[in-house]
Amino acid sequence: MSFLEIAKSRYSCRNYDSRQVEAEKLEMILEAGRIAPSAVNFQPWHFYVIQAEDDLAKAFEVYHREWFRTAPCVIVICGDHNQSWKRKDGKDHCDIDVAIVTDHMTLQATELELATCWICNFDLEKTRDLLDLPEHMEPIVLLPVGYPLDSVNPVRHSEKRKPLSEIVTFEL
Ligand SMILES: Cc1cc2nc3c(=O)[nH]c(=O)nc-3n(C[C@H](O)[C@H](O)[C@H](O)COP(=O)(O)O)c2cc1C
Repeated sequence: MSFLEIAKSRYSCRNYDSRQVEAEKLEMILEAGRIAPSAVNFQPWHFYVIQAEDDLAKAFEVYHREWFRTAPCVIVICGDHNQSWKRKDGKDHCDIDVAIVTDHMTLQATELELATCWICNFDLEKTRDLLDLPEHMEPIVLLPVGYPLDSVNPVRHSEKRKPLSEIVTFEL
């Protein structure tokens, strides 16, 4: 698959098969995250991989959606605000760095015929408690990973995305 084909194949999967993600594939997804670029190359992140049945049940408590229960694996991508680069006006680049990591992971998973879904609408404090995180470590994305049981909406890029004409300016 070309890059654009991979990018267009990725979608938010909300129904997973119970089949486990192979260890080699999981490692490739984590590796894709590891090599992501970051501001000043500070790499302000940590990945928690949840796969054990009882741990997945605990993860369900931080994002209470029935479909989320179907995921055989959840990666919690955390940003470390003690390590992230802050611009001189104070802007913290932690979220940007973690977003790049997450995108690398989702696209690598897609290439491996696995599916994912970004989740940010989770309970922050419960997630902190679950992982026993110190104040400077922020869980930013929950990423379920698994084999999909749902399918993509074929018109999602033509009808569900703004056209280039609306979002690009070529001349100032
Ligand atoms: C930063 C971010 C946060 C998101 N949070 C959630 C979420 O909490 N729950 C959810 O079901 N989907 C979440 N999504 C998925 C979006 O709804 C989805 O990416 C968007 O509707 C486009 O659909 P697609 O991913 O299938 O192309 C999130 C996506 C992004 C990029």
